[in-house]
Amino acid sequence: MFKRAVATAPGKVTLFGEHAVVYGHPALVAAISRRVRVVVERLDEPKLVVSSSNLPIRGLNLELRGDEIRAAVDTRLALRLLSYVLEALEVVDQHLGVEEKPGLRITIDSDMPVSAGLGTSASITVATIAAYSALRGAKLKRETIARLGHMVEKRVQGAASPMDTAIATYGGLLVIEPGRSPPYRVLEAVSPPLVIGYTPREGTTAELVARVRMLRERYPDLVDMVMESIGRLTRRALDELLSGRLDSLGELMDMNHSLLRALGVSTKKLDDMVNAAKVAGALGAKLTGAGGGGSMIALCPEKLRSHVEASIRAVGGSIIEANTGGEGVKVESLG
Ligand code: MEV
Repeated sequence: MFKRAVATAPGKVTLFGEHAVVYGHPALVAAISRRVRVVVERLDEPKLVVSSSNLPIRGLNLELRGDEIRAAVDTRLALRLLSYVLEALEVVDQHLGVEEKPGLRITIDSDMPVSAGLGTSASITVATIAAYSALRGAKLKRETIARLGHMVEKRVQGAASPMDTAIATYGGLLVIEPGRSPPYRVLEAVSPPLVIGYTPREGTTAELVARVRMLRERYPDLVDMVMESIGRLTRRALDELLSGRLDSLGELMDMNHSLLRALGVSTKKLDDMVNAAKVAGALGAKLTGAGGGGSMIALCPEKLRSHVEASIRAVGGSIIEANTGGEGVKVESLG
């Protein structure tokens, strides 16, 4: 066994098909240049220490009173992140058929906000699987990392598509095709030019997926029609992307946003940011990820970028500077 392994994995933006992908429809997803970094170190004592120097966790409050500093963390969110890490260690041990648990220190750093709809938990999961298996001397294939990662997300969230863990593993641009084996396909296309806007999110992915499931229980035929439409427009978007027809791609993004609104996962703030991007000349815009706050993307030619960014900021959104098409999970060092 090695002493220290470091792995990084990218975040992502869903171009088309979130939520519908949980019900077996295709999705189109791109990695971004923002990454998480997971360092796994062996300890002599049989204990597990997980820490982060810069995970921007929503709900972390620092109170300064004279010399006194009081800190309060959203423990629910912190514990949820911890459960991805613990399950990631568990699935690697099961996969390798090992039982003894080494003492470990795991340090997680991220240059993107948690709970932003950018797939941070999947990136942490996948990077932990890659670093920990490397520490144990195993060189897992990407296909295995993606499969184990999906297993972790299902265990922690209850329901999850293979999308977030597949893109964190492979990077680039993927079509997700649930039900196929493997359920994703690498797309050799140029990722479209995007602006990413962000607003803090209230619910977790699991809660938003559950909310859609409850809506479907009340209106099964109607919700299935919405899902089917998202699936169809995603297939169409794939054709438009491959032919480089950005105008049509933008129109399809607008339609996808409206259908996500119909599922009840948008918020006023996200709608404002989407509208602001459109007014500033974006070819199309939609929320990205699970919704309930979080991120939105706007498709816009380079010359309009700063205009669109300013317009999103003007309605209170932040801009996440990132390029699309980042590299997949990578073991950066092992020793
Ligand atoms: C979350 O990034 C995307 C969802 O479709 C959930 C999933 O695919 O597991 C909402």
